Amino acid sequence: MENVGILGFGKYVPERVMTNADWEKLVDTSDEWITTRTGIKERRYAVDGQGTSDLAAEAAKKALADAGLNPEDIELIILATCTPDYRVQNCSSLVQKKIGAVNAACFDIQAACSGFIYSLTVGRSLIQTGMYKKILVIGAESVSRLLDMTDRNTAILFGDGACAAVMGEVEEGYGIISSYMGTEGVDDGTLRIKAGGTMYPATVERVLNKEIYLEMNGTDVFKFAVKALPFATKEAAKKGNVDLSTIDILFPHQANLRIIEAAAKRLRIPMEKVYLNIHKYGNTSAASIGLAIGDALEEGRLKKGDLIALTGFGAGLTYGSLIMRWSK
Ligand code: UT7
Repeated sequence: MENVGILGFGKYVPERVMTNADWEKLVDTSDEWITTRTGIKERRYAVDGQGTSDLAAEAAKKALADAGLNPEDIELIILATCTPDYRVQNCSSLVQKKIGAVNAACFDIQAACSGFIYSLTVGRSLIQTGMYKKILVIGAESVSRLLDMTDRNTAILFGDGACAAVMGEVEEGYGIISSYMGTEGVDDGTLRIKAGGTMYPATVERVLNKEIYLEMNGTDVFKFAVKALPFATKEAAKKGNVDLSTIDILFPHQANLRIIEAAAKRLRIPMEKVYLNIHKYGNTSAASIGLAIGDALEEGRLKKGDLIALTGFGAGLTYGSLIMRWSK
């Protein structure tokens, strides 16, 4: 079995900053409420004319440069997103065109905020089977485009961004050690966009009823998350025979600071070992864990040899965790 890890990494956030003060002007909310209930101070929104594929392409170009590879070297692009540019066609093929990865096959993974973990897991398997040698895995979202900007319960949480990882063989002792993926299927509006798919095609009435926007039962998602994150992390640790007390940095999905704190407590991982950047970007769904990795790299906090755990949850309801020894 090859040691599969990350050869190059990149991240991108759009320029437009949306602060809590900006939200105060739109809905009945306050910086104090948002900060204490979520930990979020600001988020980034894609600017006019920017689609998810544009954010993804920017992150991808940085990851390729970091890996010292050309776009033509990539054999497969896996893009995790629940906010693709178009309902049909895959968003990864748009990225292929934008970066010139002419030799790559492309598909998207829709596992919402768990998507980056799912995609790294699939990428690792496809390299281990010998099918591909260089895979580009991306997590990218423009959630801001699908928010009801009058709904203070949901809209204040989310932001846009992208992360990208070039995957390939790494030296012995490094790379992905184990991963775990789980799903607790629901069909009740816990977290979804109801209209615009095949069950409830978009009609003028559904658009006017705002059914084309993200709906969420925050309390139910919260309860699910505080159980799912520690469960997935423990399962991944068990599969990899990893003692969680040896983890150097935990990279949780940045959805809510209180969820992260509860999960860390259940895992007995001190908060000093938990990477946080939720205050800067809010919840960026499939991009969130990768944006955290990207920031940790830029700060020099994540270094070669560090043992890290990624853990996330999202619509579906999906959840998962992945453990690796950083190889760059
Ligand atoms: O990637 C996965 C995506 N989703 C999540 O991770 C969401 C998980 N859930 C959460 O993060 C939390 O449940 C929320 C942040 C969404 C809500 O926090 P909460 O502590 O569970 O608040 P709540 O829903 O129980 O609401 C408490 C109060 C309510 O007022 P009343 O009914 O007590 O008068 C809400 O209407 O806070 C009110 N409220 C707000 N007030 C000011 C809800 N949103 C806001 C707001 N500003 N933005």
